[in-house]
Amino acid sequence: MLFAKQHSYGPVKGFEVGIAPMGKPIKSVYLYLIDSILIDTGPHHLRKKVSSMIDCNNVAAILLTHHHEDHSGNAGLLKDQCSVPVYLHPNGIAKLSKGFNILPYQQILFGKAPRVQAETCPEIIETEKITLKAVHTPGHSKDHTVYHVEQEGWLFSGDLYVGEKIQFFRIDERIDQQIDSLKKTVELDFDILFCAHRPSMKDGHTLIKRKLDYLISFNQQVLELHKKGMKEKDIIKRLRVKNDLPVKLFTMGNACFSHMVRSSLNTLQDNQQ
Ligand SMILES: [Fe+2]
Repeated sequence: MLFAKQHSYGPVKGFEVGIAPMGKPIKSVYLYLIDSILIDTGPHHLRKKVSSMIDCNNVAAILLTHHHEDHSGNAGLLKDQCSVPVYLHPNGIAKLSKGFNILPYQQILFGKAPRVQAETCPEIIETEKITLKAVHTPGHSKDHTVYHVEQEGWLFSGDLYVGEKIQFFRIDERIDQQIDSLKKTVELDFDILFCAHRPSMKDGHTLIKRKLDYLISFNQQVLELHKKGMKEKDIIKRLRVKNDLPVKLFTMGNACFSHMVRSSLNTLQDNQQ
């Protein structure tokens, strides 16, 4: 039921965890450890597995890519266990200190993240062997941050990538910000993508570029249909994707295709204001 597996990617350790009724997790979440820096902490449901896999002797600080419960679920536990600071973008600090509600599907898959006092992440994080640069990449969430290790060609990308042809947005996701964040990321030099759900040991830069191109083209398609006078519900019908209804029902409307279309149309309204 509880899945945990350790991977080695050269000097980077990856800890894959998730709820797995049969074999593989429904949704794998990866934590990464590189030269005393732990990136993300996994869902709270997996706290026992995470706690036993992480050797505190090797952890000097925790960096979070964003506050979502599958990334911050064990931040408080590991902060106490290892006596180390937790860092993330300032936009996520209040969420973590006050706590935030989650929906039943998030409770089933990940569990609620206990409160934790985090600190503002410095832009540059240096260890004995590497230098990480924090790059703010909002759109998936307001606090979303990727960590770039230029000398090694690594990008710890949190939920910036996850998949190329994304078809479902959470209600709070913004396509314009995601496009800007992907553009910013394409400027960086890297090849290995340490995605929090689907790591790729090669062609990481190409994957990010492809996602950028896809979102730009999706956005244009929506705006062109709007220009032709189509209403939101007709655009959604015209572009509709498979599995929208099951995803919408499972997430109680938090994630669906309509939010993606609406996000494009909102961009238009924002620009007109
Ligand atoms: Fe997320």
